[in-house]
Amino acid sequence: MDRRLFLKTAVMGSISTGLISTTAFAERYFPVKVDQSLFEGINRVKDPAKKTPLEKGHVPVIIAPASVKAGEMFSVEVAVGENLHPMGPNHWIQDIELYIGNEPAGKVTMQSKGYLKPKATFTLALQKDSAPSGKVTLVAAQHCNLHGYWESNIDISLT
Ligand SMILES: [Fe+2]
Repeated sequence: MDRRLFLKTAVMGSISTGLISTTAFAERYFPVKVDQSLFEGINRVKDPAKKTPLEKGHVPVIIAPASVKAGEMFSVEVAVGENLHPMGPNHWIQDIELYIGNEPAGKVTMQSKGYLKPKATFTLALQKDSAPSGKVTLVAAQHCNLHGYWESNIDISLT
């Protein structure tokens, strides 16, 4: 074997071994085929009257009082999915986030062991200057490892 053929064979062998091991690694940790389009942006419910099963399973459900008083504490509960999303080693909710308008308010990071459910409660106390119009938009978001980033929002009034 001449030197050129040896080098060509060695390089091609290394590349193919690398590809096989990378693919095997990906399949080991993500054995389910992933719809890459779900990772290209923020997913939201397209038509609230006709939610798809994917939307029902992933859109954050926000439970908060319709009206709160400035400076008083209140709770905002965020659940992932109308029926709670599964939490297993191959498919789980990585985190739940809450924003006050565009401002990040909090984030809960979750493990995939199965005992933790994708639901979080945040305790807030808003000041009057955070809502000059008397209305505050609460935005909840979550990351599913297989189905991407999902977001929903509700408006509450601040008196
Ligand atoms: Fe999911």
